[in-house]
Amino acid sequence: MAKSQTQNILSLIEAEHRQVEKLFAEAEKADSNQLYDCFNQIYKALTLHARTEELVFYPAMREYEETEQYIEEAEAEHEEAKILLEEIKALKPTDSEFKTKIKELKKAVQHHVGEEEEEIFPAISDCMSDRQLSELGQEFEKTKAQLEEEVKAAMIT
Ligand SMILES: [Fe+2]
Ligand SMILES: [Fe+2]
Repeated sequence: MAKSQTQNILSLIEAEHRQVEKLFAEAEKADSNQLYDCFNQIYKALTLHARTEELVFYPAMREYEETEQYIEEAEAEHEEAKILLEEIKALKPTDSEFKTKIKELKKAVQHHVGEEEEEIFPAISDCMSDRQLSELGQEFEKTKAQLEEEVKAAMIT
């Protein structure tokens, strides 16, 4: 890919947020046969997204005072989502709690995504050049590809 075509990390993250929202909407409409598969997709997408952010995006935020202040809360919210994902994974899709917990997860993720896009993105755009954001985008894609196999192995089969 030509360098000029590399994507800004913020647009990559944003696209993944929209993708996860779509998966949550699908899970809401799913019947009990489809629910497990829907959850698997959410599990994979969210785990991969959060870990890539933790390895590439959050360390970059540490470089500026204006963005560093958001890291602690963001990491705590990732932890909260991780716990919910594991709790749901341990349930059967026929458990009445399964859908309730997915809703709880959706709410937590929505809140976190809102903070990233409304607070963190503007702050990071003020601190970083387009070139830096594109380089981080490249790093984000590379790291995500490396993590993909690992996350697949942790999924329900
Ligand atoms: Fe995040
Ligand atoms: Fe995110």
